[in-house]
Amino acid sequence: MTQARLRAGVIGCGFFAQNHLHAWATIPGVDLVAVCDRDPARAQAAAAAFNVPGCYTDAAAMFAEAKLDFVDIATTMPTHRALVELAASHKIPTVVQKPFAPSWEDCIAMVGACKAAGVPLMVHENFRFQAPLMAVRKVIESGAIGTPHFGRLTFRTGYDVFANQPYLAKEEQLIILDLGIHVLDMARVYFGEVETVYCQTQQIRPGIRAEDMATMLLRHRSGATCIVDVSYSSKIDPDPFPQTLLEIEGPRGSVRMLRGLRMVVTSDGVTTESDVSTPLLPWTSQPWHTAQESVLNTQQHWVDCLRQGIAPQTTGEDNLRTYALVTAAYRSQAERRAVAPQA
Ligand SMILES: NC(=O)c1ccc[n+]([C@@H]2O[C@H](COP(=O)([O-])OP(=O)(O)OC[C@H]3O[C@@H](n4cnc5c(N)ncnc54)[C@H](O)[C@@H]3O)[C@@H](O)[C@H]2O)c1
Repeated sequence: MTQARLRAGVIGCGFFAQNHLHAWATIPGVDLVAVCDRDPARAQAAAAAFNVPGCYTDAAAMFAEAKLDFVDIATTMPTHRALVELAASHKIPTVVQKPFAPSWEDCIAMVGACKAAGVPLMVHENFRFQAPLMAVRKVIESGAIGTPHFGRLTFRTGYDVFANQPYLAKEEQLIILDLGIHVLDMARVYFGEVETVYCQTQQIRPGIRAEDMATMLLRHRSGATCIVDVSYSSKIDPDPFPQTLLEIEGPRGSVRMLRGLRMVVTSDGVTTESDVSTPLLPWTSQPWHTAQESVLNTQQHWVDCLRQGIAPQTTGEDNLRTYALVTAAYRSQAERRAVAPQA
């Protein structure tokens, strides 16, 4: 296990990368030595705000000069493959934002490039590291409700995601790929791998190109069934954004995540309720703070794994299984039948 300080670089200094930058600045033993954005103003603003010595508009120049121990790619998905392959060619361990890529072929290529280079690759799947969702996982893994046989994981909001992420309005695949991917990942965590996916989508908001609601029914290999439903067009007051609410049942009881992140566990007839919301950090704000804190947890997990030389939870290879649920959901919608995810 190495305790040496780690030299980090970040590519993409846009909207969500601000959370990555704050998190790297917080994690002990990490020196943020380079930032890169093809928009020079964004790169310069990040370098100034986080006191970063290296400021680049070209990732190739950053890799050539900055002597990185790892790189964190926080750009949008069309650029991921070229940047991950570039990192692999420099043998640099890599974190890359979700969605992994626009196509299955790109995802496979990135996993292959990092494997061939012998470097770890982690997808920045931050829902795995959200405190409330980790609390639910702990309940399930404790055996308190028995092996889960039914679940509903739901993320419905009317929060204007298009204000911060205007590119979403132009996507040809929207909410399943952008948000459903996180919730489908948690379905794998809670219920295991998936046998079939049945999906129906809707497009409610005018002026966008693709679906902003999706209802998915998963049949897991364990026999469990799980409904995953996501929406960007729900008029709910108060709006729970960005909370994932859920109910999971097993033979001994149930676990529910209610609005306001109150977790209710029933086990052998005894019910307990706890507050699993997270406090604000100096750099986080409502309503995003639980998601922002999960960015810190995700990146701390990466550093811990890198230091110990072990694979992180959300390797590129692991994320292929989540990505396969996304592609199965879109195929299911198109073909109007239940679809087995690609192996
Ligand atoms: N997990 C979450 O909760 C969450 C939330 C929001 C966004 N995201 C993800 O974060 C990623 C980034 O989204 P965003 O909204 O911050 O996008 P953004 O457009 O605000 O920022 C992306 C930045 O990357 C830069 N960039 C693009 N290609 C580049 C390249 N080749 N070299 C250098 N810089 C390059 C752009 O100039 C831009 O500044 C997306 O994949 C998105 O899905 C995740």
